[in-house]
Amino acid sequence: MTTSTPPDPAREINDALALDAPAVWALLSELGRQSVYPPDIPFQAAQARGKTFNATIGQITDGRGHILAPPSLQRQIASLGGDRNAALLYSPIDGNAELRRRWRARHRPPSAGAAPSSLPLVVAGLTHGLALVADLFCDRGRAVVIPAPFWGNYRQIFALRRGGRVLPAEPYRAGRFDPAALAGPLDALPPGEPAIVLLNLPANPVGYSPTSAEADGLVETFAGAAARRPLLVICDDAYAGLVYEDGVPSDSLFWRLATAHPQLVPVKVDGCTKELVFFGGRVAFLTFPFDPDSAAARALESKAKCLLRATIGSPAAVSQEIALAALASESVEEEIAYVRRVLAGRYRALRRALDRVDSELLCALPFNSGCFALLELPAGLDPEAVRQRLLADFDTGVVSIAPRYLRIAYCSVAEEAIPELVERIASGTRASSATTPESTASRSPAR
Ligand SMILES: Cc1ncc(COP(=O)(O)O)c(C=O)c1O
Repeated sequence: MTTSTPPDPAREINDALALDAPAVWALLSELGRQSVYPPDIPFQAAQARGKTFNATIGQITDGRGHILAPPSLQRQIASLGGDRNAALLYSPIDGNAELRRRWRARHRPPSAGAAPSSLPLVVAGLTHGLALVADLFCDRGRAVVIPAPFWGNYRQIFALRRGGRVLPAEPYRAGRFDPAALAGPLDALPPGEPAIVLLNLPANPVGYSPTSAEADGLVETFAGAAARRPLLVICDDAYAGLVYEDGVPSDSLFWRLATAHPQLVPVKVDGCTKELVFFGGRVAFLTFPFDPDSAAARALESKAKCLLRATIGSPAAVSQEIALAALASESVEEEIAYVRRVLAGRYRALRRALDRVDSELLCALPFNSGCFALLELPAGLDPEAVRQRLLADFDTGVVSIAPRYLRIAYCSVAEEAIPELVERIASGTRASSATTPESTASRSPAR
C-alpha cells in the first residue's frame, strides 16, 4: 500500500503570497492560511459563462441565461435602473465587476498617487467585511489595538468570534486627539509579534477625524510600530466623506499607509451603507493594498472568496444592481453632497447647542465629522441610569456607553430639533445628578 500526501490546494497561492508579501503571510490567521477559493461550482460556472450549452450552475433560467422567475417577483423590481436579469441571478462571488471598477475609481483620491489598491471585493455590508478580515487575520490571542471609546460590535467580531485580545488605546485626552497614544499598547507587545489596529475615521461613537498634523502623527506611529512587527491596520471607513471642518482631511488614511512601511498592511473596508445612504442594501467593499493583478491581491482575493462562499454564499445581486445604477447616475455625487450639507447643518446646530450647556454637566469629546457626538457625564453618574431617565421623563432616546458617556446620533435628528434635544439631555442629566449622591459634577482628569 502506498501512502501519498494529499494535495494542498492552498500551497500554490501561499507560496506566491509569502514571496510577494511576507508581512501579509506573517499576519494571516490559521484559517486565513488554509483558505483558498475552491475550483467547484461558481469557479466552473464562471469558466462556462457564454458557452452555448452551459449546464453548470443550479440557477433556474429559460435556457438562454435569463431568469425564469415568477412574474409577480419580476414586477417588484420592474423600475430597477440596472440589469434586471443580473439582479435576479446569482452575483459573481467577488461581486459585480462593473460595480467593483466603479467603486475603485470613485474612491482613489488624487492624493493616492501610486499607492497600490486591489479591485474591491463586494461583501454583505461593512460588518461582513470586518468579519472576513477577522477570519483572515485574527487568531486566538492576537493583539487588536482599538482607539477607545469604540463601536461595540468590534468585540463580537474580533474577540467573541475569533478570540482576539482587544487592547483599548486612549487617544482622547484633555479635549485633544493624541495620535501617539496608539503606540503604547503596540510598544508593550514582544518585538516581532504580529498585531492588528482597528482605525475607524470618522469615528463611531466619538465623531472625530484627525487634522492633517494628527494624521501625519498616526502614519508616523504606525510606521514606527511596523518597524518592530508585521502590522495590519484595518481602515473602517464606514463614514467616509462626512467631514465638516476645513483642515480636516477626508481622504482615508489607507492611501498613505499603503506605502508607509513594508511591514505595514492596511486593509480598507467601506461601503454604500452610509456613503450612499443605502443601509438596507448590504453592499460594502474590501480593498487590499496591492495592485489588482499582483500575486498578493490574487491570493488574498482567493482566500476572502473562499470564506465568503463558506458563509453567505454570494453577495446579494439586487442590491448591487441598485447601487450600480445609482452610482452610474450623473447627478449622484451632487445628491450625496446634498446629504453631507444636511448633516453639516445638524453638526453646526449641535455645536451651537452644546456651547450653551455648562461644560461641567455635559462635555463633548472632540468631534468634527461623521454622524455622532459623544458626551462625557459628570463623575459618579451612571450613563445607563441617565439614559433610562431620558426615556422615562424626557421622551428622549440616546445611547449609553460605559463607563460615562451618552452618544447622540445627530444624523437622525432634524436640525431644528437639535437645540431642544440638547436641552432635554442637559435637564435629564441635571435631574440624575440631583438624585445621585456620589455625583460630583466634576470630570475625570483624563478623557
Ligand atoms: C464604525 C462602524 N463600522 C461598521 C459598521 C457596520 O456597517 P454595516 O451596516 O454596513 O454593516 C457601522 C455601523 O453602524 C459602524 O458604525
